[in-house]
Amino acid sequence: MTAQQTSTSKEPAKMPGALPLIGNMLKFGKNPFEYMSLLRKTLGEIGEFRLFHQQMVLLTGPEGNEAFFRAPDDQLDQNEAYKVMTPIFGKGVVFDAPPHIKDQQLKMLMPVLRDKPMRTYSKIIVQEVEEAVKDWGESGEVDLLDFMKQLTIYTSSHCLLGNEFRYELNEEFAHLYHDLENGMHPLAFIFPYLPIPILRRRDKARVRLQELVTGIIEKRAKSKEKSEDAFQMLIDTRYDDGSPLSSHEITGLLIGTLFAGHHTTAGTAAWITLELARNPKEMDRVLEEFDSLYGHDGEVTFQSLREIPIFERVIKEVLRLHPPLIMLIRKVAKDLHFKDYVIKAGKYVCVSPRVSHRIAEIFPDPEKFDPDRFTKERQEDAQPFSWTAFGGGRHKCSGNAFAMLQLKAIYAILLRRYKFELVSSPESYQDDYKQMVVQPSSPCLVRYTKRDNIQQEQAKDASEKATTETASKQNCFKVEVDYDLCQGHANCMAEAPEVFQVDDKGILTVLEETPDNSLLKKAQAAAKYCPTSAIKIKQD
Ligand code: F3S
Repeated sequence: MTAQQTSTSKEPAKMPGALPLIGNMLKFGKNPFEYMSLLRKTLGEIGEFRLFHQQMVLLTGPEGNEAFFRAPDDQLDQNEAYKVMTPIFGKGVVFDAPPHIKDQQLKMLMPVLRDKPMRTYSKIIVQEVEEAVKDWGESGEVDLLDFMKQLTIYTSSHCLLGNEFRYELNEEFAHLYHDLENGMHPLAFIFPYLPIPILRRRDKARVRLQELVTGIIEKRAKSKEKSEDAFQMLIDTRYDDGSPLSSHEITGLLIGTLFAGHHTTAGTAAWITLELARNPKEMDRVLEEFDSLYGHDGEVTFQSLREIPIFERVIKEVLRLHPPLIMLIRKVAKDLHFKDYVIKAGKYVCVSPRVSHRIAEIFPDPEKFDPDRFTKERQEDAQPFSWTAFGGGRHKCSGNAFAMLQLKAIYAILLRRYKFELVSSPESYQDDYKQMVVQPSSPCLVRYTKRDNIQQEQAKDASEKATTETASKQNCFKVEVDYDLCQGHANCMAEAPEVFQVDDKGILTVLEETPDNSLLKKAQAAAKYCPTSAIKIKQD
């Protein structure tokens, strides 16, 4: 435990320059990332600033992150901090629900992101990407962010909401979604119901979306065919007392799932191309890896997307430099002690992956795009809670496996068809801080040219070979589970049923703590695909 109580606890130092009424809002609002970096430089790993009347304490660095992510819900309250989402998700849904209901609602979403539906999703994503580039021709220019936003709303809505939204309601849904998205305006974090046009449009969109959802539920109830999407899973699921979700709740949970997976993935997908185009050597390595896996027409399947080590490191490095959520916030419900400090109840506490990802003692030369930071030899993220693009602890984003699957499938198709170059100078592509989910600023133009002469190579899986070789050299391994982090996702059981068992209530049992060496690869996959990183495999 890094958070500890001492008798000499002091309050965090405050940032200078706070103005009456608005506090430090002007400088923070102009560029939150620069402001939080300045705070770390001025005050260190803990410091306070004020946004209007709200006192905010920023924790940075792995220890600060750990104190934040490991604190129990009754101490750091997520719900209070995310009141901005209530008008979007709906009253009584997720952050606005009492804890026992919220827990059940989040558990209901877990099957949506498990291994079995993922297999279906990978086919849909591949189909959508092929469709999106079919008219691109030999060469041209495209606004990458617009392209990725449209593509990922198609992939996410198709995978999660099903055919009705993708094919029958596509245009109307795109508008409604856009209005809901704009409702996540920074001002709404402080004044969620301010009567301004952007927030009125948000509320109208929420009402209309629920009408559409209700219509589909009724239509599906009469149909003899049974859909197999996330929407249907939510229609069929039940609370512990046997009652079904209302259409209001289903709408909110679907919006929540889409929000988690869409906006963040679109920005990351765009940054991948931009960073690779800025770093041609890395681009060549990625192309070589994809060509060796898929050649010109090799089938892109769920299985083949699992191990793409060079590209996975690229994604991780893009997320280090450009995490879509630059800050995560909680309200302090009970005093939080961190080292010699106390953060008093009533204040807000936040962490910033973007600031923590640039600490030079952890990630040397932090502005450099260097995916090899994450190789086995270097492992710059080895210290827990140093890399937190998907959050951490119990509330780590459960959609991270879906996000990774989407990114890998998109690029497996895109890069075997086209090469990309920047249209403007490399420095002109920057993050835009006007929205709460940070993305590259617009316009975000790139030039594409069709690739040819890709040698059809026999698909090979280098990492699999490496893992097998490593396995044969080892005599034993040990499985360790951090039960504080385990949330019952059961991906571990899907990967290694000989080692992990998860019951209907999501309770995990480790069947074998020191399994036979032949199970090493499966256990490693279980650790890799556990969304909350609750599993560690220790080898001698
Ligand atoms: Fe728990 Fe992760 Fe398995 S959350 S049930 S250890 S996949």
